[in-house]
Parts: sequence; C-alpha cells; structure tokens
Amino acid sequence: MSIVIGEEELRRRVGRLSVEQKVRLLTGAGFWALFDEPEAGLRAVVLSDGPAGVRGQSWDERDSSANVPSATGLAATWDPARIEAIGALLAREARRKGVDVLLAPTVNLHRTPYGGRGFECFSEDPLLTARIGAAYVRGLQRHGVGACVKHFVGNDSETQRMTVDVHIDERTLREMYLAPFEAICREARAWSVMAAYNGVNGSTMTESPLLRDILHREWGYDGLVVSDWTAARSTEATAEAALDLAMPGPASRFGPWGDPLTEAVMNGQVDEALIADKVLRILRLAARVGALTDAADAGDAADAADAPGAPGAPGVPPPAVPTGADAPDSLAVAEELRAAAAAGFVLARNDGLLPLSWSVTTQAGISRPVRIAMIGPNAEVARTMGGGSATVYPPYTVAPLEGLRAAGLHVTHAAGVYADSRVPAARAPWLLRPDRSGPGAEVRFYGESGELISSELRDGATFLWMNGYGPAVGAERVARLEIRCVIRATVAGTYRLGVSGLGRYRLLADGAELFDTTLALPEDTDIALSIMTPPQELASVRLAEGQAVAAVLEHEVASSHLGRFMTFLQVNLEPPHSTDEVEIAAAAALAASSDVAVVVVGTTAEVESEGFDRASLALPGGQDELVRRVAAANPRTVVVVNSGAPVLLPWADDVAAVLLSWFPGQEFGSALADVLMGETEPGGRLPMTWPATEEGLPSPRPADGVLTYAEGLFIGYRGYDRDGRTPLFPFGHGTGYTTWAYESITVDCDAPGARGPGAVSACVGVRNTGSRRGREVVQVYASRPGSAVERPAKWLAGFAAVDADPGETVTVGILIPERGFQHWDGRSWATEPGTFTLSAGSSSAALPLTASLERP
Ligand code: BGC
Repeated sequence: MSIVIGEEELRRRVGRLSVEQKVRLLTGAGFWALFDEPEAGLRAVVLSDGPAGVRGQSWDERDSSANVPSATGLAATWDPARIEAIGALLAREARRKGVDVLLAPTVNLHRTPYGGRGFECFSEDPLLTARIGAAYVRGLQRHGVGACVKHFVGNDSETQRMTVDVHIDERTLREMYLAPFEAICREARAWSVMAAYNGVNGSTMTESPLLRDILHREWGYDGLVVSDWTAARSTEATAEAALDLAMPGPASRFGPWGDPLTEAVMNGQVDEALIADKVLRILRLAARVGALTDAADAGDAADAADAPGAPGAPGVPPPAVPTGADAPDSLAVAEELRAAAAAGFVLARNDGLLPLSWSVTTQAGISRPVRIAMIGPNAEVARTMGGGSATVYPPYTVAPLEGLRAAGLHVTHAAGVYADSRVPAARAPWLLRPDRSGPGAEVRFYGESGELISSELRDGATFLWMNGYGPAVGAERVARLEIRCVIRATVAGTYRLGVSGLGRYRLLADGAELFDTTLALPEDTDIALSIMTPPQELASVRLAEGQAVAAVLEHEVASSHLGRFMTFLQVNLEPPHSTDEVEIAAAAALAASSDVAVVVVGTTAEVESEGFDRASLALPGGQDELVRRVAAANPRTVVVVNSGAPVLLPWADDVAAVLLSWFPGQEFGSALADVLMGETEPGGRLPMTWPATEEGLPSPRPADGVLTYAEGLFIGYRGYDRDGRTPLFPFGHGTGYTTWAYESITVDCDAPGARGPGAVSACVGVRNTGSRRGREVVQVYASRPGSAVERPAKWLAGFAAVDADPGETVTVGILIPERGFQHWDGRSWATEPGTFTLSAGSSSAALPLTASLERP
C-alpha cells in the first residue's frame, strides 16, 4: 500500500543517518537493486530496463516479459492516449516483477539514421518525442512505477559512447536535444533521469554542470539523477555535480563512490549537504514508488528487516505489489499489443492493393480463397525488438507467417535469402534438450575440483548470468559450465554449429571435439558488444535427414575477462540453405504462382543494437535483389519493412505497397494479418524522415574523440528543407484505408481540443472523402517568413488525431504552446514579434492549409 510521506518527514529520516549510511545508499547494492536502510524505513528499490518491456532482475526466458513495440513504433502512432495506456501496461508488468523504476523512455533524438539505438528513441522531432515520452511517463507513474528518462543528454549515437565529447551549440542543445527532457520533467514530472555515458561541451554527463544548472535550478526538478551503468567515473566531481546514484553496485566492485566518497566527506572535500540532498532524492523516489514504510513503522521495520530473508533485507527482492496484473501471455495483453502494433504501422505507399481481399475470382468465374506467398528472412522469424539493454524475453512471438496462417489465410512460404552475417542462436526445430523433451538445452555448473554443483533445463540457447548464476548456484564456486543439447537435422546437409561468447570454449559432437578455442575482445570493449556481438567460433557438421547429434559445449568461467561477474554465451546454429541465387529463384517462382506476394524484409541483430552505430542504411544480404525479383514475378507485391529505423528501399516505386512495421513487439504477425486484410487500419505516420539515399546525413563518427553537431538545428526534415533535398518519404507521412480533404484552418478558435493552457489554438477541418471510417493525424507546422533569426523552414508545432465516417467533416482544435514560437536567444527564450504562419496537413510535405498569426 502506498503511503504519503511529507517532505519534512523525508528530511528527518535523512537527518537520522550517519555519513556512512548515507553514502552506502548512493551506489546500488547490485546490478539492479539499491540498498535498503531500515533506519529510514526504506526497502530496496529495484530498477530495470526498459523500454520495450520490463525485464526484471533476471535476464532470460524463464522470466518472460510482455514485449511492447519499440519506441519508433510507439511514436509512429502519434497517439499520446494509446502510449499512456502502454505505460500503464508496463507499470502492471513492473509490479508483477517487483520492479519500482523502469529505465525508460529513451528520449534522445534521431540526429542521424545511423544511430544504432534509433529504434529505441522516438523521433527526430523534439515535440513529437516530448509528447509521446510524456505520455509514456504518465502511464507508468500514475500507477506508482517510476520512469527514468534517458540518456541526459547528447547520447544520440553509439560510436565511442563512453568517451565521446559531443559539441552542441547552446541554441541547438536547448531547442532540440534538451527540449524533450525539459517537457517531460516539467509537465509529466518524471521521477528519475539517467545521466549519459558521453560528455557534452567538455564535461562528461555524470559530472556535467547541466545537471545542476538546468535540470535542478531552471526546471525545478526534484527527482533523482542516476548514472548510466558504469558512467560515474570520478569521486568528487560526480558528487559535486547533481548526480545522485551511481549504478551498478556494489561500490566495492563498480563505481567511484562508497568508501572514497565517505572519506571525501569526512575530510571536508565534499560537502555533507550535497550527500544529504542525494539521499533525500532517493527517499523521495522511494516514497513515490511505495518503498518507504510510514514514520511510525520505521523502527519496527528495522527489526523485521534484520531477519534473514525478510523482504527488504539486502539481496532479497521486494514483494511484488499484487495488482491483478495480467500475465504477459494473457489475452488482454495480447489484444492491447496487437492493436498498438497496428496503430504504429505506417502504410508508406499503396497503389490500391491493400487491404487485400479474402478471395479472388478465377477466369472461370469461380471464387476461391486468395493465395499468398510469404517471402523473406523476417517472415518466419519475427524480429520484434532491437538489441542491447532494451532486449526482453517475450513469452512468445507471432511471426508474420504464423500470424497470417492463424487468420485462416492460404499462405505458402519461401525464405528468399539468408540475411544474417552472424550465425543466430540455435532454435527449434533443430535444437533439443538432451532428453529430447522439448526445445532447449541443459546447463551444468561445475566447481573447482570438477564436482557437479547444479544443473538446469532451459528453453533456449542464449545464456546470460550477471553477478552469479542464480540462487541455487554460488557464483564463487562455479569454475566450469557445460551446455548439453541435441542437434537434429530436418533435412540432409551441412549445419554450422558453434558458440558466441568470451573465453575458452570446447565443443564436442557425439564425443568428438569440433574445436577448442579462446575468444576475446579488448578488455575496454563496450559491455554491450560483449553481450550483443561477441566473437563467434563455428564448425561444420554434415548430417543426414533426421540424424541427431549430442552436442556438449564446455566453458571455463575464469577464461573470460568478465569472469564470474558476467557470463554470456550462446549456442549458434545455421541450418543448410542454398545460395541466394537459388533461394531467390524459388521465391520468385512461388510469387508468380500466387495471387499476392508479401515480402518481409528487415534488419538483423548485427544492424540495430545498442553498442554500435550502423555502417550502412542498406538492407543486409541480398534482400533488395529479392524484392526486385519477386516484384518482377508478381506485380501484386507488398513489402513489409521490419526495421526499427530507416533502411534504403531502392525498389519502393516498383512494388504495389510498402508497409513499415518497425519492431512491433510480440504480436507482430497478428497485427500484420489485421492490417493486410483491412480488419484494422494501419494507423502510423512517420516519426522521422525516411531517406532515399545516404547523401547529406549527419555522421555519428567522432573525430579525435569529439562529435560536433555541425548541422545545428537542421536534423531530419529541418535539414532536408534547408538543403532542398527530397527524402523517399517525408516526416509525418503515412496513409490509412480512406482519403481525406483538408478544408479549413482558423486561428484562436473553438473546437474540441482548442481549450486549455497554450498560447494559440488552431482549428482544422478535415473531411473523410473515402469509403470507410478512418483516423487521420492532423499536423500543424509553424514557420516564420522573413525572420531575423536563422530558423528551420518549418517545425512541428502541434498535432491531433481525428476519426470520421465516410463523408463526415470533423474540426479539431490543436493547442500550440508559446514555446512553439520561441527560440533560444543565447540567454533566454524569446518570441520574435511579428507574423508567424501555421500550416496544416497530413505530413511535413503535404500542407495545403495556411493561416497567419501575430505574436507580440
Ligand atoms: C544503457 C542504458 C541501460 C543500462 C542498464 C546501459 O548500457 O545505455 O540504457 O538502462 O545499460 O542496462
């Protein structure tokens, strides 16, 4: 039960603590949990990633999480109400898993499509990012779960992210990169903010003056600032900056606080008042998430928590608050995620083929079910999220092929090409547990003298242990791991079998050694790379159809530089496949003999992830050639693009329809069936400009440790407008299954939505000119002709969605805050007096209506 504890009481509790007690609270107890402090009535607060689900304290398939669409898919809905509901769903997930603070949302901007974590950030536009991010935060926090808005600030790409110094001029910083943080901290009152790894303008973000000067002083932020994991690198400078919590812990292993900070306080180098303020912020967060007992109980709680194993004792997760949360595989969660995925799908191009008909009439006049050829590497294996800390283990995923089959459609399948450059994790139907009881593997843990400590049966072939190997296995005792599984051939041919990880690995098949190797990365490698793309060793095994081999992978734990503190390993398997040429020919033949071809193309795990930026925007492997050949074989070709961020689509004009699905979460295939068949309208609009080529895009590559945002304000559509370049699809673009006419715009008006706090209202009348009910995202852009200040040609100032029946006209009011007209003049926000223009339409490149207004 959450209780209200006033500020004075919080201060009293801080005052009760010694310097050591206070400093102890400022670094995590472990990777995800903070320390408790019985004397302050505080139980251990638990933090967890975020943002595409709530992972919880363990990171494997045994503790599954509802997998919501990734950020670009959420932003593409342009629908704050829906995102607030997703936030509420995540809050229920957090409570189910004993999590108090979700390390989300990520509100860095799409400065460039090369950014490896683009899928995890909402948009290139600060206003859209702010609105969607604020809704996400409200949804979480209204249900008592804290948001952690990240990564403050300038972490818009991954190359050298731990060390890069990002140079951003102040106006750009204010108007673009800080703007979403500001709106979310001020309006949605986020309870925590994460300080990024990188530096900005000379200070690493955990020491940056921006924390105190802007976040605290200007924005009046009363929440907690937590470091990104291992981003705190100094004792005094971080303590003096407004960093409150260094993660992960314990301080004896990570982070610069703990004893050195206690000493610095004791000998007067760091003011104790600073420490007290940090603890106050931790207690304030704890009060907000319900992790404080009320004052009267504080003493009793101290006694109770001393009992071993009591909730709140160090290392014991807090009890999950029973809120009747639905399981992540429940029907209610599935339905919400299915609708959310479809609401973010962007129909970028449609010559009328979509929605598909359920049946076709043959030349003989006979009606029969439509025959669909599903083609492409991502058709059979759903890619529902991007890589890195955002990864969760969903209870299931619905792949496109499965989704269409479940809808009752007649579907055939051809892979077309093999797009992975790394061999993926072994999976069903080839991977079996040693007793063949199902897909998966057995893990055995051995001690120093070769004794078997424990074993467990697992459902997959990816293993990650952090800070120990689980409650049944003492971390310090484990010297060697063994993964045992059976690989069974479905067809005769050469199977590539291997491992990804760090350290020494020996692989045996039916007792014969395939390799004994040591895999390494430089010790200062970004930890995300050690998990996402560690080195791989492979061996080829020829198997007859139905033949099974017993595989044993041995690993010495101490042979990895990460040691016992973190072990990642994956058993990899690539089944036999033909050359791309043979596979493409088969796919084209299948398309030719079908009524419709649906090609699902996309990125792979090596393309979009935390830890690295993208080297190219092209689709990996032979996917472009696949699309061209399928479209040539059957003009009725729909291409579904399963990527978290833009990829080049050089064939876009040659196919009948292009549907952008993003990383849509666990219900991908069901949502896709709904949209292709017209049960649901594709609701999305582009949250970024979709490039036609790689020309003119900002680079994420630092030079001599510095990344200069030389383009200033001109990212995304602002840059295209300035340079006169034409993208493939403009920002805000997307169509549904009906058509719209933009009929009227008035300023300072009265229509639903036009009242409330805001400087100006614009009322836009749109008519549904098509034949089915639909939803339109009405967008309003501001501009300032003849401005004395350098500005983008236009900028998004507001938006709202309307629903209308065929023939119906709806007028919607859109409020534009004063900030929508302001610029940063070097010292403060200023409105240039005079005439601004407001333009309304369906995208940044289709703005048929304009109105003028005067600002004093
Ligand atoms: C990421 C954060 C994440 C943290 C904890 C870091 O590497 O940058 O976004 O929350 O790890 O997993």
